[in-house]
Amino acid sequence: MSFDVKKEVRKFYGSIAKSVSSGSKKSCCSSSSCCGDISSSSIIYQGENLANIPKDALEASLGCANPVVFANLKEGEVVLDLGSGGGINVLMASKYIGPTGKVYGLDMTDEMLDLANKNKEKMGVSNVEFLKGYIEDIPLKDNLMDVIMSNCVINLSDDKEKALAEAYRVLKPGGRLAIADIITIKDINPEIKQQISTWVGCLGGTLRSEEYKDILHKVGFKDIEVVPEHIYTKSVIEENFLNDKNMGNFIQNIDLDMVDGAFVGAYIKAIK
Ligand SMILES: C[S@@+](CC[C@H](N)C(=O)[O-])C[C@H]1O[C@@H](n2cnc3c(N)ncnc32)[C@H](O)[C@@H]1O
Repeated sequence: MSFDVKKEVRKFYGSIAKSVSSGSKKSCCSSSSCCGDISSSSIIYQGENLANIPKDALEASLGCANPVVFANLKEGEVVLDLGSGGGINVLMASKYIGPTGKVYGLDMTDEMLDLANKNKEKMGVSNVEFLKGYIEDIPLKDNLMDVIMSNCVINLSDDKEKALAEAYRVLKPGGRLAIADIITIKDINPEIKQQISTWVGCLGGTLRSEEYKDILHKVGFKDIEVVPEHIYTKSVIEENFLNDKNMGNFIQNIDLDMVDGAFVGAYIKAIK
């Protein structure tokens, strides 16, 4: 890559966290950033999932689907969310695992961790802990987690094999992986992958379904499923990725006909 992925990703998400904290990001339900209005909390999270979740956690929601729904969490489980952002998925998960369970959120961006900790305080939960670190070098011991979830983060990694191998390492034997992510289902111009804006905007670093499965298999996972859910048509990309009012023209020079239907929001499941 011709740029420092972690530095650019941290800069991008740090600025979103700051605008949420300062109140200048109005609402993810009416504007978009990163994974587009696909991140709109009213679309991807519904019903009791949203009850008691602090407003700033909803406004910082940048995922592409709801991993909490298919993680099938149970009372007492220990869960890790990779790239926890403002904490929305962690705080939702905390309701399912109850006082005897624990949810860790891991993120590398200080501003996101500050926001997540404020959201945790607002919600008044004690079964949640946010950790600073890289998903490619998880600061936790082996075989600890019942479940690893993640929402629209693996595509941002500059070393996806390392990140998924780390997920495997910290899962207990029999533990579940429940990831929501964007994948590619059509050939796209390789130049798209070289642009900072498309990478930090969750499109440039996407894998094909077969590549995802190969990596998961290589690092040891079994019962692997990659299930495409929402296709990003030309109009979805135009509306949600090109006209971002928070980030300006953060994705530029993209051939909309070429990317029409090339990206899909998918659920990725596997077992250790
Ligand atoms: C698209 S946002 C998603 C946040 C959250 N999962 C959600 O659903 O709102 C990506 C988050 O992942 C974090 N992140 C990206 N790459 C990372 C890495 N390599 N290690 C740790 N955190 C990372 C960013 O700081 C950011 O908070």
